[in-house]
Amino acid sequence: MSDLIHYRLEDGVALIGLDREPVNALGQSLRCALAEACERAAMDPGVQAIILYGEHGLFSAGADIREFGTDASFAEPDLPSTLVRLTEIHKPMIAAIGKLALGGGLELALACGYRIAEPGARLGLSDINLGLLPGAGGTQRLPRLIGAESALNLILSGEHIDAERARLLGILDRIAPSAEALLDEARAYAQELIDCSAPARPAEAWPEPTEGLPDDFLARYRAEHEPRWKSRLAPRLVLSALEAACLLPQEEGLARELALFKEAEASRQSKALRHVFFAERESARIPGVSADIPLRPISKVAVVGAGTMGGGIAMNFANAGIPVALLELSGSALDRGLTQIRSNYEISVKRGKLSIEQVQQRMDLLFGTLDYADLYDADLVIEAVFEKLEVKQQVFRTLDQVCKPGAILATNTSSLDVDAIAATVSRPQDVIGLHFFSPANVMRLLEVVRGKATAPDVLASTMIIARRVGKLPVISGVCFGFIGNRMLEPYAREAHRLVLEGATPAQVDGVLTGLDLNMGVFSMLDLAGVDVNFLVRDANRAAIAHDQSYCRLGDELYGLGRYGQKTARGFYLYEGRNRKDDQEVVALAERLAGELQIPRRPIGNQEIHDRCLFMLINEGIQLLDEGIALRASDIDLVWINGYGFPAHLGGPMHYAEQLGLDKVLAGIRHFRQALGEYGEMWFTPAPLLERLVAAGHPRIERV
Ligand code: NAI
Repeated sequence: MSDLIHYRLEDGVALIGLDREPVNALGQSLRCALAEACERAAMDPGVQAIILYGEHGLFSAGADIREFGTDASFAEPDLPSTLVRLTEIHKPMIAAIGKLALGGGLELALACGYRIAEPGARLGLSDINLGLLPGAGGTQRLPRLIGAESALNLILSGEHIDAERARLLGILDRIAPSAEALLDEARAYAQELIDCSAPARPAEAWPEPTEGLPDDFLARYRAEHEPRWKSRLAPRLVLSALEAACLLPQEEGLARELALFKEAEASRQSKALRHVFFAERESARIPGVSADIPLRPISKVAVVGAGTMGGGIAMNFANAGIPVALLELSGSALDRGLTQIRSNYEISVKRGKLSIEQVQQRMDLLFGTLDYADLYDADLVIEAVFEKLEVKQQVFRTLDQVCKPGAILATNTSSLDVDAIAATVSRPQDVIGLHFFSPANVMRLLEVVRGKATAPDVLASTMIIARRVGKLPVISGVCFGFIGNRMLEPYAREAHRLVLEGATPAQVDGVLTGLDLNMGVFSMLDLAGVDVNFLVRDANRAAIAHDQSYCRLGDELYGLGRYGQKTARGFYLYEGRNRKDDQEVVALAERLAGELQIPRRPIGNQEIHDRCLFMLINEGIQLLDEGIALRASDIDLVWINGYGFPAHLGGPMHYAEQLGLDKVLAGIRHFRQALGEYGEMWFTPAPLLERLVAAGHPRIERV
């Protein structure tokens, strides 16, 4: 028998332990061993009941994601038919769930007639996050177990629920008192089932999954939720599978589910989401730095500046149970900062996400101070003061004097030179950039900026602590704007220029949101503040671009006091949350076009797409070539998690590969010619893009 399975017989009970570390992924080899073990137990007359469990305490985190999209995905024995076979065994089968039963792992448990878990177990069908649906009976067995509505919510959210919730929903029959007691409880459960001659499978709790629901439940569900799905395919396929569960006999439902699963698996969206899944894992690797480099322990943090960013940054650490000292210039600024933090937490209480006790625990971890001496024992200090080089340099000089040796000194600058800040201290190797995104307690992305002198262990320790507090850290080199904002510049430039040439802000934004971006360029600017954008631009004109005529529109709006949503006027007019086009902006664009001698013409949506996206892609490729980004997939993570680029397009680099790099290059060359002097100025293909296309290389990587 395979060493992926442990098989033993105890008092008429076959114990089948899955042993494919780290997470018992149900790849072909494990499926094969599992099927064999189950057959053995089915055939053995000495076996009266069967227990499936995870050998090292973890049941199964699901399918082997590397198999999706390859022949191995359905290599025999495939998971759906293995599970059907399990349901046919005429002996009670118990899934004893330790730690995780996710995706295919939960489907395996659903194929068992009985389920018990340890109290800390987490369960879920998270296939949707990979652009898939449960394909091994989950969409058919779950609604028959817990009803259509709960099943839909669980599958569409991809949420992982705890054992107690799973028991209340009806997924679990029992919860063992502890993880250690799980197997013993499962044995006792098996004995009870044997003693009362329980059936191999109990009767379905919901033979009619829509029982008690209105006749048009599914149609209403679709109407209510579809707008949020935008162009995502997987939620629609889930709904079709659920429809089958409600309308068809199980066997036909399973066949329908399989067909829908295969459609999802073959889709570009799922391929893109699988790319994102692997990109997140890959981003943790630091080339040239060994994975077992000794880390600097981080158990105390300090944040300098308790403004918008500093407060949000501090919350991340308090949320993870790490004490934070918050330093401000004055008592009133400190009070303001702490009050803001408390009111952010109170919003979470109102939403039922935090209890009042939890808020107090977190607030107790925050310690306000006006005295730098209180920062002496911090392991990590994050500076989030005003965006002025001299101010930041002064803060770092002081930190150099007060902080203990080995403390990591980080700056949250969004546009200043991290190396110029590091140059002010006697220990530049301890300095790093930590570019949080706003709101810092919510946004997952963190650009970790590696300075010229940053020590490898500082980088590695920072990457680890960032993940510990729930962030997705992505390494960037030093340049103006780092990865994300530097790419934003040419992308936003095209958006502005297109408005000068004859498009409207709403048309440009419409093309971008039509691609499922969360926001278009102009609504984003109105939200962030036309004034904020102007001030950053104004302070950095030399670093941004030699010709800034395309910025005239933003500059003039700033001059008019049209700062965006906060003044109810910006690129759009706002009435409450509603946004309207403004003729004044169109007239302004016409006037500026006249002054700048830009001919106006009707602009097609394809041109908007190509100019904005190709310039975004081109800049990303250039960043990779310069070594600012380590990998194309890191760039994708930045844009998905910081700028609302749809994950189901895989990020701008993956999207470019899907479009075809030759097509992107041809587009850039076309605009270089078609747009005259402006085209020649800006539409310069990144040399790496040219090299990749010349070599016929379909993937974006450094060559
Ligand atoms: P803010 O103006 O809300 O907060 C700055 C805080 O720092 C103020 O409370 C001020 O009293 C305090 N401060 C100023 N000088 C200080 C000093 N010498 N010692 C101690 N405290 C001092 O500014 P915000 O928006 O929080 O920005 C802070 C930093 O974060 C800037 O470098 C900014 O570029 C960066 N950042 C901002 C983002 C945003 O969206 N607001 C996004 C990413 C980075």
